[in-house]
Amino acid sequence: MIIVQAIDALREELSAWRKAAETVAFVPTMGNLHAGHMALVERARQLGSKVVVSIFVNPTQFDRKEDLAAYPRTLAEDCAQLQTAGAAMVFTPTPAMMYPAGGLATRVEVPGISELLEGAARPGHFTGVATVVCKLFNLVQPDVAVFGEKDFQQLMLIRQMVRDLDMNIRIEGLPTVREADGLAMSSRNGYLTAAERQLAPGFNRVLREVVDALHKGRHDYASLQADAAKSLESRGFRPDYVEIRRAFDLLPPEQGDTDLVVLGSAWLGKARLIDNLPLTLK
Ligand code: PAJ
Repeated sequence: MIIVQAIDALREELSAWRKAAETVAFVPTMGNLHAGHMALVERARQLGSKVVVSIFVNPTQFDRKEDLAAYPRTLAEDCAQLQTAGAAMVFTPTPAMMYPAGGLATRVEVPGISELLEGAARPGHFTGVATVVCKLFNLVQPDVAVFGEKDFQQLMLIRQMVRDLDMNIRIEGLPTVREADGLAMSSRNGYLTAAERQLAPGFNRVLREVVDALHKGRHDYASLQADAAKSLESRGFRPDYVEIRRAFDLLPPEQGDTDLVVLGSAWLGKARLIDNLPLTLK
């Protein structure tokens, strides 16, 4: 496995692979890798002959400076895991390489999807994500890129960008990988104290209760959402939102919609957790 930081070196290596008719499967990350990330890498190995993983803590997608400063950086451990998992290359650009001279004039905006839910809670976040993923796609030029459903809205945004801008990249989405107690794996789980870690699975439990209620035929969405938020508060969370949306466009469901997703975001101590559960009604 090679670790590449310079853009020239990345391009050189990739062009040699292309000449050898290799196919490139790409997994963009911000590092501090856990089993969720590694599931994406494993899938990428099935989809391409060479797997490229980027590790870049992208400053432009953080809406709070403290979060960017505190974000865990564990490059040595990450590279050891990726080596074992059979990645061919780790690309670790610096902020100065990605944003020379302090910033870019060009941005990738995906209005609509960017304004809902996570986008409403985190202004500018999705512009940062779309722009950096577009840049990473242009740098790596993968045949396929693998993303997690954990960030459901992010995955939809990337699919939209790829469609709208005719990027010739297959986007593969993978289900959320969870701890044994149901907590979605996340680099931000590391911010939880031992006591909060005990409470944390309650988040997924509350979302699951909403899913169960929907399967039982309830469609009083507003009261299901409000009850879920109250239940989270009683368990020690400060919920940002719990929303029942249709999976297709993340808008509120209309009569007859069967492909839904329950999405939530809640603070627990210093950690802002997100999770979602897709479901299909019979
Ligand atoms: P990061 O949070 O590091 O996540 C990298 C990829 O791992 C994303 O596709 C995310 O959805 C996926 N992932 C995270 N936790 C997961 C879990 N528990 N199960 C399955 N997949 C999981 O998402 C980002 O980085 C950034 O926004 C990025 C796309 C790299 C752009 O900067």
